[in-house]
Amino acid sequence: MTNNNNGNHFIIFGAPRIEEAEIDQLLATVRSGWLGTGPKVAQFERDFAAYKGGETHPVAVNSCTAALHVSMIAAGLKPGDEVVTSALTFCATVNAIVHAGLTPVLADVDPATMNIDPEDLERRITGKTRAILPVHFAGRACDMDQLRMIAQRHKLKILEDCAHAIETTYHGKPAGTFGDFGCFSFYVTKNIITGEGGMILARNEEDAARCKVLALHGMSKDAWKRFGDEGYKHYQVVECGFKYNMTDIQAAIGVEQLKRVEKYWARRQEIWKRYTEEFSGLPIGLPAPPEPGTRHAYHLYTIMIDRAECGVRRDDFLSAMTRQSIGVGVHYLSIPEHPYYREAFGWHPADYPNAMRIGRCTVSLPLSAKLEESEIERVIQSVKRCLNTSERSAVIAQRSIVL
Ligand SMILES: Cc1ncc(COP(=O)(O)O)c(C=O)c1O
Repeated sequence: MTNNNNGNHFIIFGAPRIEEAEIDQLLATVRSGWLGTGPKVAQFERDFAAYKGGETHPVAVNSCTAALHVSMIAAGLKPGDEVVTSALTFCATVNAIVHAGLTPVLADVDPATMNIDPEDLERRITGKTRAILPVHFAGRACDMDQLRMIAQRHKLKILEDCAHAIETTYHGKPAGTFGDFGCFSFYVTKNIITGEGGMILARNEEDAARCKVLALHGMSKDAWKRFGDEGYKHYQVVECGFKYNMTDIQAAIGVEQLKRVEKYWARRQEIWKRYTEEFSGLPIGLPAPPEPGTRHAYHLYTIMIDRAECGVRRDDFLSAMTRQSIGVGVHYLSIPEHPYYREAFGWHPADYPNAMRIGRCTVSLPLSAKLEESEIERVIQSVKRCLNTSERSAVIAQRSIVL
């Protein structure tokens, strides 16, 4: 950990909170000699499904990207089918659609919630659309009533990208249980972590079984049992699958992290509230309050740095925060800003104006349950300091001359 000129250490963006229990579980697992997919993975699947209400079928995999990929195949989608997703998401959401041989279609987001705009989504539906892939951005539930109605009207599958949304609920129902599949991430910056890791929640058992086969080379469902003590079992390859299985090393961390998921959520809620109080008078955009009847997962705290409002360019603000030893993030440049997607699909940022504006102004502040009080204070003071730059004074002076 490096220190800046003031002797302050660098606050890593999205640093996970790891406790002794994870370390003990991890060591016990390593000592057991069963490092691959085994009893800890089975336990993590059971525990996660129970946390999400129990009426679901879990399959642990090695990332949310893998979860999205195999879910789309298990959903029976075929090459050429179109899947509509958000223009404001991580590249993995779109890449998974492409890897499944499907055609991604983007819809713009609502400027306040930053979630996919149901009206724009419906406008983008064509005769080839077979599924929608909403992303619960920052942990805020999408408008699932609207999305379900659209899916019913057009006979579409729903796959939910819940990478940010472990604790999210909408009208009392957990995120990831609305559609045919819900896909979760336990990547190091996520609300609970396994290092790398993901989980699929399938609505029905057959779909979960197919995901399990697809995630382990296409080998028949209980292939991992062949290493057990129940006698040798031949496995059969029943389709051409992938190497996406979670290991017991990952699950050992996950099992312990999951026990503290609510405690960490409460801590992030506290930090979120504190930021909102401290920043409410500043000339920056703040996240909208959570919608009534929903539970926000508080995965990201994103502020909007619009030069026209606060006199500071977003990228200058990012640099200034980093110079103050505060790790910041951008979630996200809109998908059409990236050259690959522009070239492959002919997308233009301006066709998704809300996602474009957010992508060009947004800054994510540290929101980990690991943050100490003194670190939260440093983030708050740094935001205030970085807004109070000479550049801002110059813009304000220029404005008053014009006036
Ligand atoms: C919205 C979203 N979808 C998908 C992913 C992919 O998750 P993973 O890294 O577990 O593959 C991420 C990860 O950052 C994400 O933020």
